[in-house]
Amino acid sequence: MNLHELQNQITKLKSSLETDLSSGGDLNAKYLGKKGLFNELAKAIQQVGPTDRKAAGQLLNELKTDLEQTTSSQTSVSQSRETETDLTMPGLKPKVGHIHPISQAMEEIVHIFEKIGFTIVRYPEVDWDWYAFESLNMPPTHPARDEWETFFIDLPDTTKNIPYDVNNPRARHPSVAGGKILLTPQTSNGQVREMERLGKPPIRMINIARCYRRQQDATHTQMFHQFEGLVVDKGINIQHLKGTLDYFAGQFYGAGTKSRIRPFHFQFTEPSFEVDFSCHICHGTGVLKNGDKCKFCKSGWHEVGGAGMVHPNVLKAGNIDPDKYTGFAFGWGIERTYTLQAGLNIDDIRLLYSGDLRFLEQF
Ligand code: DAH
Repeated sequence: MNLHELQNQITKLKSSLETDLSSGGDLNAKYLGKKGLFNELAKAIQQVGPTDRKAAGQLLNELKTDLEQTTSSQTSVSQSRETETDLTMPGLKPKVGHIHPISQAMEEIVHIFEKIGFTIVRYPEVDWDWYAFESLNMPPTHPARDEWETFFIDLPDTTKNIPYDVNNPRARHPSVAGGKILLTPQTSNGQVREMERLGKPPIRMINIARCYRRQQDATHTQMFHQFEGLVVDKGINIQHLKGTLDYFAGQFYGAGTKSRIRPFHFQFTEPSFEVDFSCHICHGTGVLKNGDKCKFCKSGWHEVGGAGMVHPNVLKAGNIDPDKYTGFAFGWGIERTYTLQAGLNIDDIRLLYSGDLRFLEQF
């Protein structure tokens, strides 16, 4: 084959390509595939004399580029045809989520307490040590603080030069002394804040907020939620506390759920109690109908949190005269309270914050 013949072959190939273009089909395979027409033609280069070889190579290269461009524009035209929108197709439904189970529990708790006249507040989750500890009758070095495995913010402590005075807790108030800053480990920091906000009783507060502690296992997460109740007025006594707890138990866990208070110790209440609710499975008996021991509670009761009569020093820290007023307080974790609800049986609360939709979509 000489150069002229090659040129003729190329012209033929191009014109057959043109005809093929209008009829469709896989032109890429036909022209550029392994056994395609281009490769067939390229073999002819061996028959071209050495003087014309360079020119023949050039012609073939140009042909290849030409073929590539033509066939690729053919595929993009057919692709764009395929992606054309079919306006008669039904629309895609957006996935609708729902609020997180803990937010649902918070709404429920808020609703229950609003019905009996509590005001819902939300106090800082990054707060002064004074509100989280000192005003709650826990002086700077008190060992009771160890109970709350607290994350402190690494800033200088500016209260060092003002001595702690049990009779004058407000001497080291943050507005005077600044102080240490922490991630609040309990919603009790809202107690004195609410006394300050209102100036004087009556107080009926629910502080609902995030808390933080150095802990992580099947029943604890480093970030969790608590709610804190505080009632201060003239003549408030333990019966008011017990009545409020029973009311909550019945509303949140269902009619017939009872509350129980057991003596305990907290620095900010006197007397102090731990609060239990009766188990919804064995109804507080610890024994199932078939005589087996209830595995869910083991004793008939679930411990949920703490409560007590507000300590006079806490009232003093909030500028309230403990000789005129008394109060009760209670507080506990929302995750724990929630996972005890009938039918949930969540045995690892870390799942709540795993972000795993397979878990969350069940609620
Ligand atoms: N703040 C306590 C805790 O995190 C719970 C608590 C106990 C709150 C007694 C109270 C109370 O208001 O009176 O463990």
